[in-house]
Amino acid sequence: MPSLIDLRSDTVTQPSPEMRRAMAEAELGDDVFGDDPTVIALEERAAELTGKEAALFVPSGTMGNLVCLMAHVPRGGEIIAGEGSHTIQHEAANHAVVVGASMRTLPGDVEGRMDPDAIRDSFRDPTDAHDPITSLVMLENTHSDSMAQPLPADYVSVVAQVAHEGGVPLHVDGARLFNAVVALGTTASAILADADSASFCLSKGLACPVGSVVVGSRPFIWRARRARKLLGGGMRQVGVLAAPGLIALRDGPSGMIERLADDHANARTLAEGLAGMPGINDLDPERARTNFVLFRVGLEGDLAVRTAFLEALKAEGILMIDYPDRQLQAVTHYGIEAADIQRTIDGVHRALRAAGVAPAQTAVLA
Ligand SMILES: Cc1ncc(COP(=O)(O)O)c(C=O)c1O
Repeated sequence: MPSLIDLRSDTVTQPSPEMRRAMAEAELGDDVFGDDPTVIALEERAAELTGKEAALFVPSGTMGNLVCLMAHVPRGGEIIAGEGSHTIQHEAANHAVVVGASMRTLPGDVEGRMDPDAIRDSFRDPTDAHDPITSLVMLENTHSDSMAQPLPADYVSVVAQVAHEGGVPLHVDGARLFNAVVALGTTASAILADADSASFCLSKGLACPVGSVVVGSRPFIWRARRARKLLGGGMRQVGVLAAPGLIALRDGPSGMIERLADDHANARTLAEGLAGMPGINDLDPERARTNFVLFRVGLEGDLAVRTAFLEALKAEGILMIDYPDRQLQAVTHYGIEAADIQRTIDGVHRALRAAGVAPAQTAVLA
């Protein structure tokens, strides 16, 4: 029986054998007292890599973003962010429930970029008592909705400048920051040079079982630490979970950053294999720049067709998942090899036929 090829997300990655050993052997302390040496080492490494003063280990990407919002935004504040961003769509409206903030959402272009002038125009009038208080600008890098395009450092800096001119900070949701780093051939500190804070996930392409890291200035990290405590995210002997992070963030082939290039190459091969197939629509393989492949099946990508396709694919031992806007998502990651991509391409071919995605429809489209 061939093994399951799980392309639903890079969140399904399993820790490497070395990570498991490091978890078992990690030197521990009480991190709420600030004396877990493994957590301290991870936070120091994260700060060094991102060029920021300090860092904070948190249980998840969602909590990472939330503590940043809490540290930056007062009640009644407003956040300017991309309309499809994870924080708005998939974090249970925590900006409203916990922070007491509203969102001013802007569309992104195909590269995942909000127009800097539109950001500037979205600032509220601080002298008008009717208005919420513009308090933060947010970017997502990589930008999931644009098929995880990497946002380059110069764009991030332009947005930071607009935010700073308006008197507010810039936060970067860098859940997949290191995918952007590798795709652009740059460094995290270059991308974040003018950002005030960022969060990045250890648990996705970097293959750790749990955790994210927030980075920023020392006073900011202190406020984020208090916010983490308020949310119940202060954990005790949590070096057990930080230990794989230290492996993930190593330079070179013994870490997990450099190998993201393999995931990107696999995503490109998958996109190229799928793009020419009758029944696959709205997929430009050139846009597979990191580890996401988004596409539609059938003419309209309607629910019945998507469901039938995903079921037929599952019968082939391949998992993909629904994505907003009638799309399907396949994400490459640690544990997915080049041979799995070929098996996926063949499996998709059969699943399209099994799901009755009519080739005649596609002929009309062409
Ligand atoms: C862009 C982005 N930000 C934040 C998160 C939240 O991460 P977590 O699932 O660890 O809470 C995700 C999760 O997929 C994400 O894709």
